[in-house]
Amino acid sequence: MTMRFEGKRVIITGGTGGIGQALVELFAGEGGQVLFSDRSEEDCSDLGNALRRKGLETIFLAGDLRQKAYCESLISHAVENLGGIDILINNAGIIPRGNILETNDDMWFSSLDVNLTAVFFLCRAAIPHMQQAGGGAIVNTSSTWGIYPGPDHVAYCTSKAAVAALTKNLGRDHAADGIRVNAVCPNEVNTPMLRSGFIRRGIDPVNAVEELGKTVPLGHIAEPAEIADVIAFLASNEARYVCGATVEVTGAKPVYG
Ligand SMILES: NC(=O)c1ccc[n+]([C@@H]2O[C@H](COP(=O)([O-])OP(=O)(O)OC[C@H]3O[C@@H](n4cnc5c(N)ncnc54)[C@H](O)[C@@H]3O)[C@@H](O)[C@H]2O)c1
Repeated sequence: MTMRFEGKRVIITGGTGGIGQALVELFAGEGGQVLFSDRSEEDCSDLGNALRRKGLETIFLAGDLRQKAYCESLISHAVENLGGIDILINNAGIIPRGNILETNDDMWFSSLDVNLTAVFFLCRAAIPHMQQAGGGAIVNTSSTWGIYPGPDHVAYCTSKAAVAALTKNLGRDHAADGIRVNAVCPNEVNTPMLRSGFIRRGIDPVNAVEELGKTVPLGHIAEPAEIADVIAFLASNEARYVCGATVEVTGAKPVYG
């Protein structure tokens, strides 16, 4: 096992979700000192215990990313408990579904709050610590649906497009600080977020994921680890010349075309 993140202080949001769990295990497994975040204290505690049984120590701080105070406390928690921040992975997200006529105010604002504004709060609070340390890496999770908006997800696509723009802005503005800011843009990934869409429509998610896989030139939709591996690459020294990039990870499947 390579130890690409030995001694690195890493914050991961959405840590108990589909891609999040793969990320927490990968970074902790490769030597990172991981602080992860998610909404449910109980789910965070269960994940921390499951990882401890595998010999991996992590810490967590549960809370709601819609609260600015929580976003800022996550950064100070890393500074107080890990001694700083080297890597920030903004992975948490929600997917309100609907075209504009189906999108109520709460769907719109919650999408922007979690997918975009929390990323803004976390980056703004983390960057001074990275500047002080002489550099760092931030990896945001946008989506191919942010770059090529798919149908009937107006709030989600808009928020993910803004994350791609924010990533390019920060990548440009903080390159001279040695802080690399990049984003991963997955197409479909086999996680609760994707499966909930099938369940909502009364479709069996196991069959649906298999059928969906046939539409992907590589033969299957992404598994969480296949996205976590790209995020880890972007956070690692191997990506030292990658900055302000939005990396599409699609198995060659276009959103449309
Ligand atoms: N699954 C896909 O097909 C897909 C495709 C492209 C991009 N993405 C993006 O990948 C990222 C990870 O998604 P996933 O598929 O693992 O979904 P997921 O639903 O399994 O995980 C998302 C996590 O974010 C957490 N979260 C949501 N709102 C929060 C809040 N207010 N405060 C704190 N935590 C909160 C959730 O509790 C959950 O654990 C998201 O940003 C998503 O938009 C997913």
